[in-house]
Amino acid sequence: MNVVKAAVTAVLAGGLVAVAISLNPGLQRADAAPEATRVAGGLKPVTEFAQIKNKDERAAALFEEAGKVLQSPRCMNCHPAGDRPTQTDRMTPHQPLVVRGEAGMGPPGGLACTTCHHEANFDAAGVPGNPKWQLAPIEMAWQGKSLGQICTQIKDPKLNGGRTMAQLVHHMAEDELVGWGWNPGAGRTPAPGTQKQFGELVKAWAEAGAACPKG
Ligand code: HEC
Ligand code: HEC
Repeated sequence: MNVVKAAVTAVLAGGLVAVAISLNPGLQRADAAPEATRVAGGLKPVTEFAQIKNKDERAAALFEEAGKVLQSPRCMNCHPAGDRPTQTDRMTPHQPLVVRGEAGMGPPGGLACTTCHHEANFDAAGVPGNPKWQLAPIEMAWQGKSLGQICTQIKDPKLNGGRTMAQLVHHMAEDELVGWGWNPGAGRTPAPGTQKQFGELVKAWAEAGAACPKG
């Protein structure tokens, strides 16, 4: 295909997507964060916490650093306190209205998450994607809770999907849906730092006895 033809095809394809989006107001990204705010902060390395001699204080400080990720919109949007996810950096209610359904994938006969969310991010329409896309169960709700409450809750096997501490650390360090937070697609602020740094903080927190921040 020559360059001009390729360019025309690209414009046409882009146009069709634009038309599809403009016909469905639910798919517009009007409340997306402005360009300037899309710079993610970093995470302090584990070594910076070594000088805190008291184990519980060190664990709590490590968890607070990891909390910059846990409480970022990329994670919180999918761990809501109700039945509806939130979206964008402003964590506004998901448009259109979708609800969790029994398995977190939308109700039977209703709008399934996978109608729009596919295996990968679809940047042309601003739809995030991942093979495991679904809403976190209600017992894993984080919105409206303090970091200390989130910490206590994710350690509790009755609330965290029956995970041991080792499995919990592994989930945060390795899970590919968690990993989406650092690869969220165009126009979305990634979670702070990298998943590797986050995993190291969580591992060090567990090794220091997994105390939670106060409050
Ligand atoms: C698209 C939705 C979605 C996003 C985005 C998401 N999660 Fe989750 N999360 C889930 C689901 C679903 C589960 C339950 C999976 C299971 O138990 O196997 C879960 C479970 C968890 C758990 C298990 C323990 C518990 O009590 O919550 C942790 C930890 C976790 N997520 C961390 C994260 C972090 C960190 C991020 C952001 C970097 C994140 N999640 C982003 C959907 C999501
Ligand atoms: C009709 C299409 C559609 C359906 C169905 C749908 N979504 Fe979405 N979703 C979108 C679009 C589009 C966005 C991006 C919005 C934006 O960033 O402006 C989005 C964004 C999100 C986000 C926010 C990501 C972030 O951090 O910015 C979450 C979480 C989410 N959807 C979860 C779900 C879940 C869970 C379901 C099923 C219960 C679901 N969605 C069903 C279209 C849909």
